[in-house]
Amino acid sequence: MTSVAIKLQGVRKSYGDNLVVENLSFSVNAGECFGLLGPNGAGKSTIARMILGVAQPDVGKITVLGISVPARARLARRRIGVVPQFDNLDSEFTVSENLLVFGRYFGMRRGEVERTIPSLLEFARLEDKAHARVGDLSGGMRRRLTLARALINDPLLLVMDEPTTGLDPHARHLIWERLRALLAQGKTIILTTHFMEEAERLCDRLCVVERGRIIAQGRPHSLIEEQIGCQVIEVYGGNPHEMQALVAPHAERVEVSGETVFCYVRNPEPVLAHFRARSELRVLQRPPNLEDVFLRLTGRDLETRA
Ligand SMILES: Nc1ncnc2c1ncn2[C@@H]1O[C@H](COP(=O)(O)OP(=O)(O)OP(=O)(O)O)[C@@H](O)[C@H]1O
Ligand SMILES: [Mg+2]
Repeated sequence: MTSVAIKLQGVRKSYGDNLVVENLSFSVNAGECFGLLGPNGAGKSTIARMILGVAQPDVGKITVLGISVPARARLARRRIGVVPQFDNLDSEFTVSENLLVFGRYFGMRRGEVERTIPSLLEFARLEDKAHARVGDLSGGMRRRLTLARALINDPLLLVMDEPTTGLDPHARHLIWERLRALLAQGKTIILTTHFMEEAERLCDRLCVVERGRIIAQGRPHSLIEEQIGCQVIEVYGGNPHEMQALVAPHAERVEVSGETVFCYVRNPEPVLAHFRARSELRVLQRPPNLEDVFLRLTGRDLETRA
């Protein structure tokens, strides 16, 4: 039997007149990586904060690791590692001191934390920064420290709000590898991300949230197949609306986002033929990905969501 790590049932949350989360229900199985995707302001961080018990739902029921939240959130949090969207490290303290203070919060003894620090620094590739003041670290290093800090209590569950935002590509790949290793150890992860590649690589299942409601959910590759299911040709460098009109008869669907035209095609040849002689255009043919799903579901145009 699969055990459930997180369960939300009929959760609603408003801030004043702003209804942020509406009748939200989902479950995350133990050992699973579950993604929350959605445009800015969709309610992802609010959902993460309610799971941690730091934001209170107006209506609905939340259980985390079998514990009722927010009523017994303090107990649940002992087994949870948290990466907030915005770092809350102490800039005046060194890297090691930050880890020590955080370990004390979990009631760990100084010696116990000190024994853990080397492996946490290795996790974040900050081995040579143990005595650096956090205020003197780069933004990406601070983020890596926040990720390492989340592991100090050897949590069963990790709640990560945009864990790799601000990391360079090497660091991001490193963190993906490390999160995979944590999943292989049986940890459960719920993460929010704006990196569709991250969601596609790491998540067993994900949901797309818009205005606090789930608009799609499933396995990344099932969503790509269901929502897109054909090849994509991206073109830029010309008048996008003129190009859109030109290829529309040959495509399943054509969309314009900024300066780029996205053509969804079963047969790429007739569309490519239109662009072949035009050396000013940049043309890319590729398989569909989760970004196409995201853009299709949430609308390509920011203004349409305002
Ligand atoms: N503490 C708060 N007080 C008042 N309104 C809030 C508060 N926290 C969030 N909101 C509002 O709730 C909505 C959802 O915000 P939230 O931070 O959950 O979105 P998000 O999906 O995490 O967005 P992003 O991708 O930009 O991080 C927004 O309209 C935001 O203004
Ligand atoms: Mg957020």
